[in-house]
Amino acid sequence: MRVLSGIQPTGRFHWGNYFGAIKQYIDLQENEQAFYFIADLHALTTLRDAKRLRQNTLEAAIDLLALGLDPQKATLFRQSDVPEITDLTWILMTITQMSLLEKCHAYKDKKEKGIAADAGLFTYPVLMAADILLYDSDLVPVGQDQIQHVEVTRDLAQRFNSLFGETLILPESRVLDSSAKVPGIDGEKMSKSYKNVIEIFEDPKKQRKKVMSIKTDSATLEDPKDPDTCAVYALYRLFADEPQQAELAQRYRAGGMGYGEAKQAVHEAALEYFGPARERRAQLAADSDTLNDILAEGARKAREKGKQVLDRVQAACGLGSKH
Ligand code: TYM
Repeated sequence: MRVLSGIQPTGRFHWGNYFGAIKQYIDLQENEQAFYFIADLHALTTLRDAKRLRQNTLEAAIDLLALGLDPQKATLFRQSDVPEITDLTWILMTITQMSLLEKCHAYKDKKEKGIAADAGLFTYPVLMAADILLYDSDLVPVGQDQIQHVEVTRDLAQRFNSLFGETLILPESRVLDSSAKVPGIDGEKMSKSYKNVIEIFEDPKKQRKKVMSIKTDSATLEDPKDPDTCAVYALYRLFADEPQQAELAQRYRAGGMGYGEAKQAVHEAALEYFGPARERRAQLAADSDTLNDILAEGARKAREKGKQVLDRVQAACGLGSKH
């Protein structure tokens, strides 16, 4: 089975990215043919600074490798290293209804906030559909916020197939129930655009400060607390095993435990959880040759597959001189 997913290099990765998506990438590389890429073409819709985009893309690759992505098992590449992607995007664009894109959250949310949208933001889901369809992907591990985009991808694949004959594979999204929507420090979905993120590799002192600022209700130390509505508990669950989760839940309900203590527990659990990755990251960051080799080899493999599928698509709709 082909697994594929992408992640934008718009900033450093946060706990939401990890538990919603990256953790799945790492689990799935063991038994599936996995393709993972850094979505620099998507990032260009918000990041217009060549040096930063290039740097962020490399940092993103280092982060993924440090977190356990293994280039022997999975193919890791830069989205912009596979130019076939934009060919397929155009082809899909010609069969995409405006009304389909008008319904998509990323565009709708910005429009509602009065932020001017450009064609890049509006057609972003078509580029994402091309990302998925270009490699015959079966399964797309993502967080909840991307499910809609995978649905759009299925719609477009279906429409293409009905117009031009069976050509594209319909993918399915894969979302983990326990971490589909990781909360940020204000309790809303953790997201770079809400400025509520806790970054995975943030300096421990700064990270602690952020954890201590997670929003809670006004219950006093003695009051019983509800773990099910508390962002601190929701984050603790990600790092802890079941007995630890049950213990904290029980202490919450009993009263007598303050949010400060729970936050400190989250901070410590996170430091321990990502400790080995922090060490690996420091080593990887010092070896840029290996990193460039990994990305070049990844791009080669991805392009090989991408060219085959684009060829099939062009043949189906009458493009190119080869057919
Ligand atoms: P991006 O870069 O915003 O996020 C990367 C992945 O992290 C997940 N995620 C979360 N999961 C749970 N809780 C959260 N708070 C949270 N925040 C982020 C996202 O769901 C995503 O899986 N458009 C995509 C990138 C992309 C892509 C693709 C993904 C481009 N092409 C093709 C899959 C397949 C995006 O902006 O993700």
